Amino acid sequence: TENDLQSILSFSVELARTSGALILEGSAAIQSTSSQSDISEKNNSVDLVTEYDVRVEDLVKKSIKEKYPLFNFIGEESYSSGNRPPLTEEPTFCVDPIDGTTNFIHGFPFVCISLGLIYDRRPVLGVIYNPFLDQMYTGIRGQGSFLQRGATASRQRLPLASPPKPLPSLSQALIAVEWGSDRRKVTIDTKSQSFSRLAGNPAQGVEDGKMAHSLRSLGSAALNFALVAQGGLDIYWEIGCWPWDVCAGIVIAEEAGGLVSGSHSFFASTSETERFGVVTEELLTGRKYIVVRAIADTSTER
Ligand code: IPD
Repeated sequence: TENDLQSILSFSVELARTSGALILEGSAAIQSTSSQSDISEKNNSVDLVTEYDVRVEDLVKKSIKEKYPLFNFIGEESYSSGNRPPLTEEPTFCVDPIDGTTNFIHGFPFVCISLGLIYDRRPVLGVIYNPFLDQMYTGIRGQGSFLQRGATASRQRLPLASPPKPLPSLSQALIAVEWGSDRRKVTIDTKSQSFSRLAGNPAQGVEDGKMAHSLRSLGSAALNFALVAQGGLDIYWEIGCWPWDVCAGIVIAEEAGGLVSGSHSFFASTSETERFGVVTEELLTGRKYIVVRAIADTSTER
């Protein structure tokens, strides 16, 4: 019910703040040591994990288990270590303990915890917290999304501009893209060709020889969603996200009027658009395209 979701949100916000304190502590420790021994590689030399990714996920998992013993849990690090529960209709937390691990290692302050709740196979609640900037993004399906800057500030409804600024043309867009950690030639070629088409070469630009205003890479999928919801970015486009990268962001961006597209087959369809397709056997294996567009008016959709 609405009340249940509100109380899960309060719990998740609290948990995000506690986790944020551990993320900050970890960042200070990693920045002040010359040893790289806390950093390990997953699929390749740029797919990184630190002891803090695991510690934050353990903290989150334990807290959820205590408060909501019947909820399922899908987390990035549990998944990496082989704990891969199937998605069911039951309430399921879908968590990235540190989204932006590479930023975390480098001290680039775009790092967050992303806590999403799936119910009936759909993302219904999201909390994205960047402890470096003390920015808390929250959303509940059907109840809007919000940004709180600082623990004592009041929440601002997203998008921040009201009415939201229109995006009449892609040539006026600020677009987030990511290099990601999948650096296979096929992925990188597709990405870099898209980057070039969007932002480069006027003769082959997005339309009539125009180019997008520019491209940005925050290094965190969840924060790209949050920034689109806020209105600071117009579009986020990526190949290669996992469910925990996008679950909270989907709710926050859609509740701010954004459109999320690209058949992320992990989730059941959330609307009449293709959005996430139907859950298939690809569960947790399909890395698909994610496009988030902030749109004020569907006629601007391209
Ligand atoms: C990654 C980041 C990155 C995005 C990747 C994600 P991680 O998550 O969000 O920006 O390009 O697709 O997997 O590994 O930092 O949790």
